[in-house]
Amino acid sequence: MITLHNITKSFGTLQVLKGIDLHIDKGEVVSIVGPSGAGKTTLLQIMGTLDTPDTGTVYIDGIDVTHQKDKDIARFRNQHLGFVFQFHQLLPEFTALENVCIPALIGGKSKKQTEERAKQLLNELGLADRAQHKPAELSGGEKQRVAVARALINNPSIILADEPSGSLDSKNKAELHQLFFDLRDKFGQTFVIVTHDEGLSKLTDRTIHIKDGLIHDDNGKQPTDDGQQSTDNGQQTENNAETGQEESAESHT
Ligand SMILES: Nc1ncnc2c1ncn2[C@@H]1O[C@H](COP(=O)(O)OP(=O)(O)OP(=O)(O)O)[C@@H](O)[C@H]1O
Ligand SMILES: [Mg+2]
Repeated sequence: MITLHNITKSFGTLQVLKGIDLHIDKGEVVSIVGPSGAGKTTLLQIMGTLDTPDTGTVYIDGIDVTHQKDKDIARFRNQHLGFVFQFHQLLPEFTALENVCIPALIGGKSKKQTEERAKQLLNELGLADRAQHKPAELSGGEKQRVAVARALINNPSIILADEPSGSLDSKNKAELHQLFFDLRDKFGQTFVIVTHDEGLSKLTDRTIHIKDGLIHDDNGKQPTDDGQQSTDNGQQTENNAETGQEESAESHT
């Protein structure tokens, strides 16, 4: 599903990532932990095609996403990846419903179909009566759930979250964490979550510790040569698996 090969990244003279090898399977809920400045956000952004590595390759569903045109990558990102940021990053001038719709409308889906799905998602996330409110009129927990609905609108196979519960109280935090696992169980989505929250990292299937630009400890599977498979024979299989997943996610909606 996601394979990283020898990812390095520097900002000026500071080498933040020093050769990251990592493989994440479909349906895994993985947490990334480590001290502040360790490179967690940098790694997540590279995994999510929002930043490019200096060396190395990122494969998603067997596709090399590191060496593609910006336009193709933007399209791929819109269709396959959902993002939840620490500070929700909703657009203040739009309602909750409109914010949720944006990635689908960018992806060229019809307004009617998109609004129906957005309403359904808001409903599932307990926000049916907040749909017409703007972010400033929502609580922190509500805003974060709107951001999750927005991340889900295009049925992405992968959700990348950067300290998604960092600004929430313990009740909202627990609810949001539970939601991630519910979504994985229901739709088979893969979650990669950067977190300082020990409660959350303990719940995840696997915790990856980043330190000094390297994976210091990974309590799940060690990196294998899966990336090699993904580039050639693995590609067809992974693509088919992906199509099946999207169809099944679609059929729930
Ligand atoms: N665009 C940038 N330009 C220069 N330096 C950067 C840039 N982005 C990140 N850095 C530096 O790279 C290092 C890693 O940053 P990153 O944001 O990945 O850390 P992090 O592990 O997410 O930390 P935190 O837990 O505090 O969010 C930090 O020292 C940071 O200052
Ligand atoms: Mg960070």
